[in-house]
Amino acid sequence: MMIDLHSHILPGIDDGATDLETSLAMARASVAEGVSVLACTPHILPGLFHNSGPDIRLAVSSLQDELDERDIPLKLVTGADNHVIPDFVPALRRGHLLSIADTRYVLVEPPHHSAPPRLGDLLFGIMTAGYVPIVTHPERLTWIETHYELMADLSKRGVWMQITAGALTGSFGKRAKYWGERMLCEGLAHIIATDTHDMEGRPPILSQGYACAVKLVGEEEAERLVHTRPLAILENRPPSTELSPIAGSKQGIEDNAGRGSSSEYLARSGQGRANSSGHAILDWVQRLFS
Ligand SMILES: [Fe+2]
Repeated sequence: MMIDLHSHILPGIDDGATDLETSLAMARASVAEGVSVLACTPHILPGLFHNSGPDIRLAVSSLQDELDERDIPLKLVTGADNHVIPDFVPALRRGHLLSIADTRYVLVEPPHHSAPPRLGDLLFGIMTAGYVPIVTHPERLTWIETHYELMADLSKRGVWMQITAGALTGSFGKRAKYWGERMLCEGLAHIIATDTHDMEGRPPILSQGYACAVKLVGEEEAERLVHTRPLAILENRPPSTELSPIAGSKQGIEDNAGRGSSSEYLARSGQGRANSSGHAILDWVQRLFS
């Protein structure tokens, strides 16, 4: 049994499913993948996607009815792809933003093309308010190269990280694949989700993501990425050391590098350069919280 905690399956409210037929196809495909619970997490992005908690709850309930009528065995839960906004915590508390299934775990999507200057502040503010932020698809952010050590540091300090299944299969290109694999292998990623938007370009492929993870970190940790931790989230269990990611074995990382994409990317991008920029950011974070 797998649990997919990031999807844009609700029809017609963001850049995901355009209509009910697409939503139903995505739901059937998720079930075929072995998914039993799916979080509906549409974008909430001021100026672009004007969704709000109450509307999302209604849309989830309505889609669940459609699934039940057709005997599609998929349990939907509420949530949102909450983009970074200045008053994040107040908006979460008043129900405009949504956590996953009303638990303490909340998806947080940073801007795709520019690193927010106070991302650490925001994430730790969310934690101080009693929530566990889950950064969505850090491997696909265009600024991950220069901020990798910031992401690593945030993960070690209790911010959860969600990797996209399609990044691991290569659907988002070599770059996202490299960073996704690296985060998994270094024990920095907590869950894998599909972030499915449709049936063509971004279909629900959680089992494929799971298969990639098995090769990188082994079956036990892969199971935690698609089942154990997502279930702990739905049960609103506190994040504990037992839920901490387990790094891939050295052999696994070497095998991974040997497959080509990661080592090629490393050679091309210059890992040293990324690290030195990353150190500056890390120093900044440490100053911030010291
Ligand atoms: Fe998303």
